[in-house]
Amino acid sequence: MTAPSVKKLPKDFLWGFATASFQIEGSTSVDGRGPSIWDDFAKTPGKTLDGRDGEVATDSYRLWKEDVALLVKYGVKAYRFSISWSRVIPLGGRDDPINEKGIEFYNNLINELLKNGIVPFVTLYHWDLPQVLHDRYGGWLNKAEITKDYMRYARVCFEAFGDRVKYWLTINEPWCISILGYGRGVFAPGRSSDRARSPEGDSSREPWTVGHNVLLSHASAVKLYREEFKPTQGGKIGITLNGDWQMPWDDSPENMDAAQHALDTAIGWFADPIYLGEYPPYLRQMLGHRLPQFTDEEIGLVKGSSDFYGMNTYTTNLCRAGGDDEFQGLVDYTFTRPDGSQLGTQAHCAWLQDYPQGFRALLNYLWDRYHMPIYVTENGFAVKDEDAMPLQQALLDHDRVQYFRGITSALLAAIHEDGVDVRGYFPWSFLDNFEWADGYITRFGVTYVDYKTQERFPKESAKELVKWFKEHSSDE
Ligand code: NOJ
Repeated sequence: MTAPSVKKLPKDFLWGFATASFQIEGSTSVDGRGPSIWDDFAKTPGKTLDGRDGEVATDSYRLWKEDVALLVKYGVKAYRFSISWSRVIPLGGRDDPINEKGIEFYNNLINELLKNGIVPFVTLYHWDLPQVLHDRYGGWLNKAEITKDYMRYARVCFEAFGDRVKYWLTINEPWCISILGYGRGVFAPGRSSDRARSPEGDSSREPWTVGHNVLLSHASAVKLYREEFKPTQGGKIGITLNGDWQMPWDDSPENMDAAQHALDTAIGWFADPIYLGEYPPYLRQMLGHRLPQFTDEEIGLVKGSSDFYGMNTYTTNLCRAGGDDEFQGLVDYTFTRPDGSQLGTQAHCAWLQDYPQGFRALLNYLWDRYHMPIYVTENGFAVKDEDAMPLQQALLDHDRVQYFRGITSALLAAIHEDGVDVRGYFPWSFLDNFEWADGYITRFGVTYVDYKTQERFPKESAKELVKWFKEHSSDE
């Protein structure tokens, strides 16, 4: 009997791990870095778990070389990281000075990656807006100003790094920026809209205005790249959107609709304008005039402004109609099925359960609706109570291993059986790190970080993933 042949990933498939500047770098006031909205937010009492902040994080500003050495040991093909705007332009604005130390840091990192054959996959903005821009004119709320300042920041990065960086992500997770930062107020800059008290007031418009301005800033940077840099640098540029699979709780017509409404709000809000050229009709119906209108010029800029679909996804929600939360499309989410059973294994964070079928379904949905090549730029699992475990136990991260087993089979099935064009996969995260408002207790890393010594320890999940990718790569 011949051994069954292993189904391989497509040629040149990029796999590696993902991080973000504020979550790992630390050294927040070193070498000229300016404050970002996350520095201020984390220092505001009550905003993060145990009042933790990003001052040290995983100390990767100092330990970057060791981090690259570990990536090399893992044998990754690519590494997704983000650039800190406040390190490169400490005051953030288009007339503000560039910090050469910041440029040097990312140059060193990029060069070290390339020297080791690792492709840098670079996010320009992963939530750490220079604080000065928020104070000067309201940051993301101010369309004219933020678009120009973001474009200048992008230009500085393309000029400094674009000769070597061939994959750019403009913005990470606009839904989170808009809703968590300006709607629920749980992320920086901590603004919340009280829809009940002020249904027509400005506060109830803020998240939708921010979303609009993020889209325009993204699209303006893409235009700049395509016109002035792509012809010589030849890279790809796109955005990365968060969005989980939304499944009807049962097969009643209202819950089937609810699942689509949840998708329209979580994903379509950004993906429809970019790939289809308009906001989803459901959003207009739900929000009326509170959803900004694109001018002809604006939508001309936004439509087609991504070379691929950047997909961040973690879980699946069961959707029921009749919710009152606009940020979820007036849909209630649950993990409890009609028969009372749970959808999957519960993670440490309340919003995440393991359901790999949802990952495959989402890949299919995005491929059918937008027909763009997909890079999975984030996906991962925080094991319940991992932080409280003795090291040896935490390294045997069984639930995370199970999660990635499910996901990797779903990934192969989507590629081979369903014909979805997936070109890369970056589990979140390379290292345990600063999980925003949840501080350091929630660990998403495939590498354990001992925060007292900053020592790194590969977890079982890192070993399994590395083995899996090597076995399934067509390029070795
Ligand atoms: C999405 C974000 O991009 C990342 O910063 C965060 O840590 C993970 N999800 C896990 O919550």
